[in-house]
Amino acid sequence: MYYCFLKMSTRTSTRRTTAATGRDNYQTTVIARHFNEKGFRAQLRRLRGSFDYLCKSAISASYTMKTAMDEKYTNYLYTTIDLNTGYPVNFAICGDKNAHTMYVEVICAKKGGKQLMEFIIADARSRGKTKVMLSALPTVINFYRKLGFKPGKQCNDDPDLVKIETAHSIRGKKLSTLQEVDNDRQFKSYLRELIRKGIASDPQCKYVDDCNVDGYSMTLCFNNK
Ligand SMILES: CC(C)(COP(=O)(O)OP(=O)(O)OC[C@H]1O[C@@H](n2cnc3c(N)ncnc32)[C@H](O)[C@@H]1OP(=O)(O)O)[C@@H](O)C(=O)NCCC(=O)NCCS
Repeated sequence: MYYCFLKMSTRTSTRRTTAATGRDNYQTTVIARHFNEKGFRAQLRRLRGSFDYLCKSAISASYTMKTAMDEKYTNYLYTTIDLNTGYPVNFAICGDKNAHTMYVEVICAKKGGKQLMEFIIADARSRGKTKVMLSALPTVINFYRKLGFKPGKQCNDDPDLVKIETAHSIRGKKLSTLQEVDNDRQFKSYLRELIRKGIASDPQCKYVDDCNVDGYSMTLCFNNK
């Protein structure tokens, strides 16, 4: 069984939620910076040493730390702790972009990345959000696709993109490194189409290599009733 403990510091009492099933004994903690900045910072410092390991070199520890501290909208830190070892196996830094949208700034996982995202989505829902948005590195577009995210800032799939994805079996690809992305001509031309459609997160970038740095916007919408 996979247990999640949703902990809001101050004001709110600890809430316990059962998330997806699994064999490992994990604990997910949510600390809301908005309610307790000190607790959020202390937790971040505790996690800092694991950032490089958990992010598999895709995102630097200094970038993660800076994002967590500086970004105007980061107020949630999610982490799953393996209760057998006491070490984190994943973490995510998120924020309330606006009343309707939760934004995922950083997510890194040695394991349980999908469960963590599902937990974040359920948590966003429980806070009355109707959307989760993020910027996906090209290597993880298909990871988010599996969770129901669409490329872009709209809720619906773009039929042109779906056509390309189907024609070149884009969604089935699992590319682990930027080098693998670079070597895959079809995936690269798919990225070019994302750029042409204004889906790159950096509105100034024009070429795949440049746009890959900030990634591509992706959105998941849900009916929150
Ligand atoms: C992306 C990441 C968070 C995924 O976490 P994870 O624990 O490896 O993922 P899971 O084991 O939960 O995988 C869930 C599913 O997604 C698939 N998946 C995982 N990574 C994928 C990828 N890069 N591309 C496509 N599919 C992927 C898995 O095969 C699995 O599929 P299945 O359910 O059909 O078996 C993790 O690999 C990571 O931290 N990467 C480096 C940091 C990074 O790039 N973060 C995202 C920044 S935008």
